[in-house]
This record gives sequence, C-alpha cells and structure tokens, in this order.
Amino acid sequence: MTDRFTPTKADHFSFGLWTVGWGGKDLFGDPTRRPLDPVDAVHHLAALGAWGVTFHDDDVVAFGSDDPSREATIKRFRSALDETGTAVPMITTNLFTHPVFKEGAFTANDRSVRRFALRKTLRNLDLAAELGAQTFVMWGGREGAESDAAKDVRVALDRYKEAVDLLCEYVRSKGYNLRFALEPKPNEPRGDIFLPTIGHALSFIYQLEHPEMVGLNPEVGHENMACLNMVHGVAQALWAGKLFHIDLNGQHGPRYDQDLRFASADVKSAFFLVDLLETAGYDGPRHFDFKPPRAEGTEGVWVSAAGCMRNYLVLREKARAFRADPEVQEAMAAAGWPSLATPTLGPGETLAELLADRSAYEDFDPAGAGLREVNIERLDQLALDHILGVR
Ligand code: GCO
Ligand code: MN
Ligand code: MN
Repeated sequence: MTDRFTPTKADHFSFGLWTVGWGGKDLFGDPTRRPLDPVDAVHHLAALGAWGVTFHDDDVVAFGSDDPSREATIKRFRSALDETGTAVPMITTNLFTHPVFKEGAFTANDRSVRRFALRKTLRNLDLAAELGAQTFVMWGGREGAESDAAKDVRVALDRYKEAVDLLCEYVRSKGYNLRFALEPKPNEPRGDIFLPTIGHALSFIYQLEHPEMVGLNPEVGHENMACLNMVHGVAQALWAGKLFHIDLNGQHGPRYDQDLRFASADVKSAFFLVDLLETAGYDGPRHFDFKPPRAEGTEGVWVSAAGCMRNYLVLREKARAFRADPEVQEAMAAAGWPSLATPTLGPGETLAELLADRSAYEDFDPAGAGLREVNIERLDQLALDHILGVR
C-alpha cells in the first residue's frame, strides 16, 4: 500500500540488522525463522523506504573471522549499500554474545577480557569510520552483575570510564568524525546493568575526559522497564544537548524487554515522543530497535518493520495537526505553556528585589492559588482526540 504514510529516505528511518535479522531464538525456544543474509536485509529495508542500516560488528562478519574473509564479507555488504543508496549512520560492538563476556566486557573483573573488549571495539571503530558512520553506540549489556558481592561498583565505573576515555582518545588521534552514544538499560541480560537509566548515563558522561564526544542512545522499552517516562528522559537528554541517537520500539510497561514494533503498545507516549522529537529540532536518525515477534514468519518481519515507520509517520502527522489546531493552542495558553517560558525573575530583577517583593510572599494567597484551575485535562483530552482520530 502506498499512501502519504509511505516512508522515503528523507524521513531518516534506520534499522538495526539484528532487528529484522532476529530469527526468533529466545530463552525458551529455537529460531522460528531462517537466517537472514544482511545483504537481503539491506535490499528489503531499502525497498520499504528505510534510509539506513546499523549493525554490531558480528551481525555482518562472524565472530573470529580472519582478515581476508572479513574483508570479503564487508566488500559484499558494501555493494548492497551502494546499490540501494543505504546509509550506515551508526555502528555498535557486540560485547555480550560470546561467553568470554559472561562476566562483563569493559568492567569484567578479568583484566585480559577488558583488554580484549577494547581491542574488539577499536577494530570496529575503524570499520565505523570506513563506512561513514557518525555515531558509535555503546550498549553495555553484560556490564553489571547478579550479585552485589560480584565487584566494587565504584571501581567498575573507573574501568568503564577508562574504556570510554580510551575510545575517545583513539577517535581523536585518528581524526574520525565519530561520537559515542551510551545506551542505558536497567537489567536483562544481567540482573542489574551499570548505567541503568538516562539519568545515570548522563551523570557518568560528565566524569569523562571528553564529555563533548559522548551522548545518549535512549530506548523506549528500556526506560519503561525502569518504570520511567521516556518522553521526560528524552526531553532531559535534549535539554543537555545529549540526544545523539534514539532506539524506537514499543513496550507494555515494566517487564522484560519486549522490543515491540514502534508505538504498537504505548501509542499515547509514542505520540508525545514523536511530537517532542519533531518540535525539538532533533535531526538524528529515527532508529528502530524492535523485534518482529517470534510467532511471525518471514513476511511478518517486513510487515512489522514497515509498521514501525508507518506508525512514526502517522504520529508525526497527528502531532503536527495537534500543534496547528487553534483549540489546542488556546488550551495550551489556558494551561500555562507560555507562562512557563517566562523566567521566574523579571528582566534585570535581583534576588534582593525578589526578597523585597511582598506580593511574592507576604501578600501572596497560597490558599487561593491552591484552588486555581490548571486546565491540563482539557489539553490532554484534545491530544487524545487527535490520537484517536476524532478531530
Ligand atoms: C537490547 C539493546 C540492544 C542494543 C544494541 C545496540 O536490549 O538488546 O537494546 O539491541 O540497542 O546492542 O548496541
Ligand atoms: Mn533493548
Ligand atoms: Mn537498543
């Protein structure tokens, strides 16, 4: 079906190869789908209107491949990118599948594992630069523990910082045009993962040697797993100038990482997320990190991928209509949006003047103000009416 919600490259939609390439292997069952050749994935995604693909080193080149076979595989993959005009905006490193990383990668207690993890990542940085990626995502899936007896978390954070600092130093020494994006997740596969939320990761960034090179890659499902509000988290990342990338998917509240197709479970939050991204000037990729449900066959994979993009475009249109609706504008004014943008002190007003202003305290009527109308329910209902398609 082709309609106004059919994506084009201008929409900057990208997909991880591991998303459509997931064969359905989970904790309880074997794969339900045949392996997908990354070259086929690129062609399929391009045909659906995607602009870019992203991948872990091992998604394209099998772990442990020797240099000649690695180069041959990359060459073949590159041809698919060239033929379809597909971009590689982001690359990431798999530091979680191989048993060597069972106790962590950059924060493993075993120093030789940490050195191996660094070398695997440095090699992948060269590939990222070669393919023109601008963002390097770091999801530390195995950086964590099941037991608080496992390690001194403060020392683990020293090692995490050491790793990110070294990677930044390497990028600088090579002159690569790459920035790092940390991806927070509270748990799964580890019982507890370090840098579990947007807030934890943000504070970590400011302890680094090059905080300007490091930002965030928040994921919808991960914030929900921690019972947090993704829209607020992303807004804070934007406020800090740290939204370098984003993982869009769907999630039914705090449970395992569901990776549902974007907006399929949490449509209202997805609406406000799209509204935020579109109005805040975020110009990075709209990247989907979802999993086509294991019950689907090969065709279902592409239906699911297309649904991610379609839902984004539908919500983008709805968010624009919401903002343009005169009644919404009036309701926003009634709810005090413009007033929040006015600084709390007047122009040039000093703290002494605030202290001398009797109307701000001595003569202020808190009881009366406590009874005022805030008018947010009306605005929220208008949003819902737009989402439900009745306006
Ligand atoms: C997960 C994560 C991963 C990362 C990916 C990129 O929960 O498994 O979301 O999919 O996004 O490894 O680093
Ligand atoms: Mn995830
Ligand atoms: Mn992710």
